[in-house]
Amino acid sequence: MSPPISLCVFVLLSSLLAAARAEDPYRFYTWNVTFGDIYPLGVKQQGILINGQFPGPQIDAVTNDNIVINVFNNLPAPFLLSWQGIQQRRSSWQDGVYGTNCPIPPGGNFTYNMQFKDQIGSYYYFPSLAFHKAAGGYGGIRVLSRPRIPVPFDPPAGDFTILAGDWFKLNHTGFERHSGQW
Ligand SMILES: *[C@@H]1O[C@H](CO)[C@@H](O)[C@H](O)[C@H]1NC(C)=O
Ligand SMILES: *[C@@H]1O[C@H](CO)[C@@H](O)[C@H](O)[C@H]1NC(C)=O
Ligand SMILES: *[C@@H]1O[C@H](CO)[C@@H](O)[C@H](O)[C@H]1NC(C)=O
Repeated sequence: MSPPISLCVFVLLSSLLAAARAEDPYRFYTWNVTFGDIYPLGVKQQGILINGQFPGPQIDAVTNDNIVINVFNNLPAPFLLSWQGIQQRRSSWQDGVYGTNCPIPPGGNFTYNMQFKDQIGSYYYFPSLAFHKAAGGYGGIRVLSRPRIPVPFDPPAGDFTILAGDWFKLNHTGFERHSGQW
């Protein structure tokens, strides 16, 4: 005896609903922000490292991933990160703009929590306060399309992140003084 149609429809509907409700994957990171020596111009200068790295660690994610980054500020100054190009849907206040997002105090930590909702592409993060971005503290973000979404081309043979910027022998403290900015 076959099950009644209404039962089949119910089972189908509930499995569709369950699929719609399934939570998108999470990626967790812990970042430690410190000063350290870097040599971008061949001479030693003070840079901003994340987990000992300059540039900072790359975020490799897939569309709709939830990204949770616990950032420990071990600089002797307030620190704040901005997420260039990330749409920050329902989390606009986490975009690292001074005024809507409190700086992370020296010795403190803050957890950024955002979803890379409905977007693909190459983006980057950078420190948004006090010309810190002139000293490093930035890195690449790569958001790949979901495997179940077909794209009309083959996977690339290679994928490289290039971060281009101006470098000066003056450190970021010097910039602040010369420009009169905070
Ligand atoms: C961050 O790095 C500094 C310097 O290496 C270290 O003293 C500190 O314990 C680290 N903090 C965390 C939370 O990993
Ligand atoms: C700071 O880090 C601790 C330890 O990982 C964590 O439990 C806490 O939620 C973090 N605080 C903030 C404000 O993110
Ligand atoms: C940063 O630059 C200022 C002057 O512009 C200098 O006094 C200071 O020692 C420099 N700091 C480091 C760590 O190089």
